[in-house]
Amino acid sequence: MAEAMRTDSRRTELEPIDTSEALLVSAFRAHPVLASFDRLARSQVLTIALQRRFVSHAFTPLYDVAIDCVSDPPTKRCLREILREEYMPYERPTHREDLVQDLMTMGATWEQIVTIGPTAQTSMMIADMFAALRKQEERALFEIKVLSFLRFAGEVLVAEEYQLMWPRFCTLGLAAPGSTVGTPSAFYHPHMQHDAVTFRFSEHNRMLSRQSHSDQLTELLRCRIENKAGIACCLESVRRAAQLKAGFYDQFVESAVAGSEAQPTRG
Ligand SMILES: [Fe+2]
Ligand SMILES: [Fe+2]
Repeated sequence: MAEAMRTDSRRTELEPIDTSEALLVSAFRAHPVLASFDRLARSQVLTIALQRRFVSHAFTPLYDVAIDCVSDPPTKRCLREILREEYMPYERPTHREDLVQDLMTMGATWEQIVTIGPTAQTSMMIADMFAALRKQEERALFEIKVLSFLRFAGEVLVAEEYQLMWPRFCTLGLAAPGSTVGTPSAFYHPHMQHDAVTFRFSEHNRMLSRQSHSDQLTELLRCRIENKAGIACCLESVRRAAQLKAGFYDQFVESAVAGSEAQPTRG
């Protein structure tokens, strides 16, 4: 009875985070570039995906910084595991190589991949992500800020981005693993699945062996968020993450709106 009451009160305490996150996810999905992604021409899709690759590259140093920000061994271990998945097992291509493979399946050339650099806006967004992890508050809140940012910017919204892009990626040749049409996606499809949220802060997760990256970080945060200050800190960090992620796509708004009037050619 006492346990059930504790669970109920914990659920009530954490619900504001779920509510705010749902609103931020909806707003992110409504970004004009993401909302019109399935109407973009192949060249526009590739321009965006080639820039987005640099944000993916920043994912590992961001995790490296975060590992130094947190104090307890289980949290460090969890972040280390997610980080090393990028490169392990070493007999097979890294996730970065998988990304290049998917880009080339969709029509990007090796020449483009090795010559195009990040735009000023992409570089600024990446620098701002690192700035978001700098300590400005007491230690306990700092760790909540770091984990909240990492979870939302590096996992939750990543899955949302790829889910929105996926239908258009399929028209450019990518397919889900096991599909008989198209080339199996090595990067986007797996990330779309293993980064996505499967349970919310206010829900108890009973499937510990099948946690996504977002879920693993949710668990770490649930142990840390114990009061209103913790909730406020988490929400502030999540808002910052959403703002930066949307800012990346702002640079493509003009060309996307102009280009989305015409239906893209398939293949
Ligand atoms: Fe990855
Ligand atoms: Fe991930």
